[in-house]
Amino acid sequence: MRVGIIGCGGIAAEHIRAYKACEDVEIVAAADVDLERAQKVAGAEHAYTDYRDMLAKEELDAVSICTPPKFHKEQVCACLRAGVAVLCEKPLAINAAEAREMTDFAAQTGRLLITAFCHRFHEPVMRARDLIRAGRIGKVTMFRNRFGGKIDMTQTWFSNPDVSGGGTIPDTSVHSIDLFRYLVGDAARVSAALEIADPRYKVEDCSAILIQSADGAIGIIEASWTSPGSANVIEVYGTDGAIIIDYSAGGIKFMLDNSGKWEHEPCPNADRFVEQARHFVACVRGERKPIVDGTDGLRAAEVIDAAYAFANGTGGRWVDIGSMLT
Ligand SMILES: NC(=O)c1ccc[n+]([C@@H]2O[C@H](COP(=O)([O-])OP(=O)(O)OC[C@H]3O[C@@H](n4cnc5c(N)ncnc54)[C@H](O)[C@@H]3O)[C@@H](O)[C@H]2O)c1
Repeated sequence: MRVGIIGCGGIAAEHIRAYKACEDVEIVAAADVDLERAQKVAGAEHAYTDYRDMLAKEELDAVSICTPPKFHKEQVCACLRAGVAVLCEKPLAINAAEAREMTDFAAQTGRLLITAFCHRFHEPVMRARDLIRAGRIGKVTMFRNRFGGKIDMTQTWFSNPDVSGGGTIPDTSVHSIDLFRYLVGDAARVSAALEIADPRYKVEDCSAILIQSADGAIGIIEASWTSPGSANVIEVYGTDGAIIIDYSAGGIKFMLDNSGKWEHEPCPNADRFVEQARHFVACVRGERKPIVDGTDGLRAAEVIDAAYAFANGTGGRWVDIGSMLT
């Protein structure tokens, strides 16, 4: 399988490492507005500053799109038009309208579009899904996912809303929204609170989304760039048990079947990027059906649009406690 990379920065390194772990996959070309970066990936002869030249000149079966979100729509559609399967980084687009254009175009061309929701491929998450589907924690009632830490995004495109679509929400909560959908169910209702704790930001650097599935399960999604010591954790609670995935501790902890007994599975070889690449490669070869696709990226974008609408006062409202004081 002949693969091209578009955008050769931070996350591309994970895609490249992961493709190298796949059998009979070759990274044959790369494009980046910074030519030196593309050359490091694919050598001088197969490096491009314009991805369209890469698509015109190289015979590719698939690409990874690892550019900032603003560029995803145009690049994804060009690749699909060229008959190339796409693994596109999250968020799929900077808003739901763009994401819908992409999924519509994928459907029209019949080409493969997968959103790189890598946490679906984290071994403890896969294990959690199996346990939940087998009914081992009963009916899921609550979900909580926090991704946070202290990270300076002030000088990066991540904090430029025209390029990123927002702050912590499209950065990490987009993964959490997808995890809620994957482990619990589709979102039926959403609200959100945003905060700018570091005044140098124009976008939220702390956020919380409240999300509820049609059958009532409640999810709390937290994210922050300004919380040193933050936990990175997924918790799922049901009527008969609980599951905790702590990314720092590793592995998965669970209490099943109302047993009251906690167990821990370490999962020392978990590598979500390699699992994601293997899955994508198998889908391109027609050996597997995708467990995640462009529509999952669209659904997450719809939840994000709704969360912003709520937080900005156009999609719902907070009850002001002050007005209720007697
Ligand atoms: N799945 C994850 O865990 C994860 C982690 C980090 C980033 N991401 C996502 O991956 C994408 C890239 O993030 P990153 O951290 O690698 O960013 P980055 O800034 O490190 O790399 C982006 C690269 O794209 C290049 N680029 C910018 N505009 C381009 C264009 N129009 N055409 C070609 N190349 C262009 C830049 O020169 C740079 O090399 C984003 O969508 C981001 O949200 C995902």
